[in-house]
Amino acid sequence: MSQRGLFITLEGGEGAGKSTAMAYVEKRLREANVDIVCTREPGGTRLGEQLRETLLAPSEIDIDPLAELLMMFAARAQHLSECIVPALQRGQWVLCDRFTDASYAYQGAGRGLGEAPVSALEELVQNGLRPDLTLLLDVPAEIGLSRARGRGALDRFEQEDHAFFERVRQSYLSRARRSSGRYQIIDASAELFEVESSLQAVVEDLLACPPLVDS
Ligand SMILES: Nc1ncnc2c1ncn2[C@@H]1O[C@H](COP(=O)(O)OP(=O)(O)OP(=O)(O)O)[C@@H](O)[C@H]1O
Ligand SMILES: [Mg+2]
Repeated sequence: MSQRGLFITLEGGEGAGKSTAMAYVEKRLREANVDIVCTREPGGTRLGEQLRETLLAPSEIDIDPLAELLMMFAARAQHLSECIVPALQRGQWVLCDRFTDASYAYQGAGRGLGEAPVSALEELVQNGLRPDLTLLLDVPAEIGLSRARGRGALDRFEQEDHAFFERVRQSYLSRARRSSGRYQIIDASAELFEVESSLQAVVEDLLACPPLVDS
């Protein structure tokens, strides 16, 4: 069996610059003739995009934190079976805007569920699959939120308070610091050209020396 493609995720708080970074990395990889699939969570499939609507739209419907986590993982199960796993098996690289680190940060830390239910669902749903590389766009919450506000109406998460976003940020950072070499922390408070130059360095490393993956 040929080697599977690389699974790369982008993470960070609201307005950190994930989508901007993803477009940049996509462009660089395509220029290097890497066959890639770009996708996002929650979303990436018809079911996932429907769940995204429900999860992100400000609404009078109260969503219990555990129900929120289960909806995230329902979308993820569909995303894995319909999109991510088939693409990786075809040898394509998958670039995904948010993945399970976001569940640890938002539902585990932000909503206060803790890591245990996230970890249990990660085991159940992902069948051992983990990202090969995670680009963590780190920015103080106020900077990210002011960028997000500049873009228009706030979604259901963006309406949370400062303490929520601080827990999200600290969760991302502590998991990145605790883990093996999977994360690259990018200072996303920097000017865009500086962020792009950090990303360029990561892409060059990746192309020169891709991590070994199980097929
Ligand atoms: N380094 C930067 N400096 C200044 N502005 C930036 C920087 N990176 C991105 N932006 C701008 O900030 C806004 C938010 O960026 P982007 O949409 O990429 O963030 P995001 O992390 O994907 O947000 P969301 O969490 O809402 O998906 C955009 O208007 C983008 O152009
Ligand atoms: Mg985005």
